[in-house]
Amino acid sequence: MKSPNDFDIETIGEDLPLLEGIRTARAIRRLSTEPVPKELIRKVCEAGTFSPSGGNRQPWIFVAVTEPERKAFIAERYVTSFRRYIEPAFKAAEEDPDFPKAKVRNMKAALHLAEHIHEAPVLLFVAGWTRRGEKQSEALFPCIQNILLACRAVGLGASLTTIHQLDGEDIDRYLGLNEKTPSSALIPIGWPIGKFGKPPRESVDTKLHFERVRSGDDA
Ligand SMILES: Cc1cc2nc3c(=O)[nH]c(=O)nc-3n(C[C@H](O)[C@H](O)[C@H](O)COP(=O)(O)O)c2cc1C
Repeated sequence: MKSPNDFDIETIGEDLPLLEGIRTARAIRRLSTEPVPKELIRKVCEAGTFSPSGGNRQPWIFVAVTEPERKAFIAERYVTSFRRYIEPAFKAAEEDPDFPKAKVRNMKAALHLAEHIHEAPVLLFVAGWTRRGEKQSEALFPCIQNILLACRAVGLGASLTTIHQLDGEDIDRYLGLNEKTPSSALIPIGWPIGKFGKPPRESVDTKLHFERVRSGDDA
């Protein structure tokens, strides 16, 4: 079992080139049950705090859940909601022989995470202040992405999930969050089973346009 003494928290993850980290920070959904030192969770959340935010309001609040009975409360709700959410897609895949295989692989990985989410050493919630009475998830996403990249840098597996919002109030109250500080993301974190690597992505050349988007018919 790794302990805080096995790491130099100051230096871990500091040497991964930024762009390489970005290219290889795929969703890691298979996690070892080995604990993660709180100092390391602090370090990846600190990376989150260096994100941009409107007016530099810094609206983020992090809640790291590590105790088994508290994780069980969240996991019970997450897996129930996730199964309900993904069921129509699995049905569609079964009925359609041309359903993309990569999509099915992705769905299976997400289901695996849902069914094992209680085993993740850390369930990290990112919540944030409302603005004019409205939830503002978009204000948290740069912060969330920084946390995912920091996890990649220090060697922790992580993935972005949002399904817990289907049980939002129930879970938020359990976490001590109120209606003015709703959570937007749940990031299960742990040591990865499997390797980091480039995720499947379409070439940027199919997505990038200069000056304006042109259809195939344009000269
Ligand atoms: C807004 C948003 C919400 C997401 N919600 C979930 C989720 O609830 N559960 C989950 O397993 N993955 C969720 N994901 C992760 C995506 O499924 C993941 O990024 C995608 O499968 C690509 O994975 P890859 O980087 O390993 O290729 C979400 C991603 C985004 C951007």
